Amino acid sequence: MKRIQILSPRLANQIAAGEVVERPANVVKELLENSVDAGATRIEIDVEQGGVKLIRIRDNGFGIEKDDLPLSLSRHATSKIKDLDDLEAVQSLGFRGEALASISSVSRLTLSSHERDHEEAWQVEAAGRDMLAEVKPCAHPVGTTVEMRDLFFNTPARRKFLRTEKTEFNHLEEVIKRMALSRFDVAFQLRHNQKVIHALRPCTSEFDQEKRIASLLSAQFMKEAVSIDMEAAGLKLWGWVGLPTFSRSAADMQYFFVNGRIVRDKLVAHAIRQAYKDVLYHGRHSVFVLYLELDPSLVDVNVHPTKHEVRFRDGRLVHDFLFRSLHKVLGQVRPQVETEQDAATLHSQPQVSGVAAGEFAGQNNMSLSQTAPAQSPWATPANSGQIAPGQVQEQMAAYSQLHDPSPRPMQPSPMATIQPGMPASDDKTVPPLGYAIAQLHGVFILAQNENGMVVVDMHAAHERITYERLKTAYDEQGIASQPLLVPETTHVSQQQADIAEQHDEDLTKLGFALERLGPESLVIRQMPILLRNANSEALVVKILEDFRMSGASRHMTEFRNEVLSSMACHGSVRANRQLTMPEMNALLRDMEITERSGQCNHGRPTWTQLTMGELDKLFMRGR
Ligand SMILES: Nc1ncnc2c1ncn2[C@@H]1O[C@H](COP(=O)(O)OP(=O)(O)OP(=O)(O)O)[C@@H](O)[C@H]1O
Ligand SMILES: [Mg+2]
Repeated sequence: MKRIQILSPRLANQIAAGEVVERPANVVKELLENSVDAGATRIEIDVEQGGVKLIRIRDNGFGIEKDDLPLSLSRHATSKIKDLDDLEAVQSLGFRGEALASISSVSRLTLSSHERDHEEAWQVEAAGRDMLAEVKPCAHPVGTTVEMRDLFFNTPARRKFLRTEKTEFNHLEEVIKRMALSRFDVAFQLRHNQKVIHALRPCTSEFDQEKRIASLLSAQFMKEAVSIDMEAAGLKLWGWVGLPTFSRSAADMQYFFVNGRIVRDKLVAHAIRQAYKDVLYHGRHSVFVLYLELDPSLVDVNVHPTKHEVRFRDGRLVHDFLFRSLHKVLGQVRPQVETEQDAATLHSQPQVSGVAAGEFAGQNNMSLSQTAPAQSPWATPANSGQIAPGQVQEQMAAYSQLHDPSPRPMQPSPMATIQPGMPASDDKTVPPLGYAIAQLHGVFILAQNENGMVVVDMHAAHERITYERLKTAYDEQGIASQPLLVPETTHVSQQQADIAEQHDEDLTKLGFALERLGPESLVIRQMPILLRNANSEALVVKILEDFRMSGASRHMTEFRNEVLSSMACHGSVRANRQLTMPEMNALLRDMEITERSGQCNHGRPTWTQLTMGELDKLFMRGR
């Protein structure tokens, strides 16, 4: 039997380093966190050869006391917590007291520091020796510099796992991006092989913050994002979420911070995915930069050595809050006129409404500002030769016949609810989506608004409107149904006929009345009024298929949205259906008041805008 021995400090640290230091990026993360914890407002990062050769991080924080310098390199030595109570309400990014010990056990490390309100600066080095560091005077302004050279020089096995310089640098840059997103008040500079890669000034306004995000992530994201600021039950969520039309094939632009710490948390990811579920194109990933703030004692950050995971004391509350806030914000994404009064209300009631269009890059896609310069001679309906706003009332009736030919006196017609979105008859303002000019190849509606041209995908838009209406009707008074003049006999499979019988009640709630005629035939007696124009046979077969695929084992509430979405898809205006001008205008007005109308049920965009400026550019006008 071999005897038990105590490991040398260096070996113990090297083992521990395995958990936190896998590549240069991890070193940068730990060092940046230390600088931020030291109250730095400016951090300079110098990197050579992807960080393997050199990582030097210099900050202007409060520095380290001379006698603490050697201690800072030993394991379980920290100035950030003293007891369990501190740990349970920890606000600093670090607290385990092992990062410097780990890093210095697998590299050559020099730590220089000048403590605030002290005369001299001091330095310690650790390399090769058994973690015993000697303190020497040095020249250094107030703050701390950590210089790490030759990562894994003494652990060749780990060195083998390092990738190319470029790959390592990409990982490292990502860490810096995250930190720069979490601390807008801090200036960052990153140099790689002497070349400046990022130079970020501290942000003093929301505009600065949006500029920083645009430069770190993408300018397009900022253009296609809405800002969010919500507060409830002691939780605060703010930041920016990408419109569903700005999605990515990978989940690589998702930043979520909990009390300033970046986390990758399953519960958070799930809540966000749920919120986007109805609007994101299948297989795409949303983009967001979000900050959750809550009492630090309600979240445990000591779950994993890298601190990427957290545990919420009340996970359900957090999930619910995230889901509801984002669902609401995404629901409000639709073409709208933002009046000055709206803006004032928004800002005075951030908890209630909370959404303000991003102000970055001039114009946000989704807030077609009424105050936009109306230099275009087409800007007003008066001289556009188009329908004046007052006539729109009339058009609504025409459009309503698209899906509701017999208004029910008992239930207010969906059309009746649109008054708030309608311009008053004496109002000369152009609605956000403007007025229809023509229909293109039976697929698109062309319209003009204050800013230029609007192109609408007729089917996609109508599909969303129908879907949202079906959802509301289903939840509120039930989907209204209407007998067919001539009941329709449909041939189905035996399985489908069985399903029709088994789910009779669910189908009634959806507005269908089906009756079994024989082993493989059904008769359709009633259809939802909203889907009056749909091909009833195809629709019924599709719905029975949906039930077969999802409903056999699940409860209707779980796949309600899928069924309603199929119904909407089948019941909406198809391509090549000629719409009259009034019908087209009514569709535009409907889009303006329907939640989530920026995307169809499958997450595809329903409309786009080409501004006069963009059109001018296309034709090189004014150059
Ligand atoms: N840039 C810095 N400025 C001031 N003090 C620092 C700096 N870097 C490290 N320190 C001091 O050294 C100590 C050890 O740092 P180290 O990163 O090893 O542990 P920690 O930050 O306390 O915990 P963790 O292991 O979770 O990061 C810190 O507690 C802090 O007192
Ligand atoms: Mg630390």
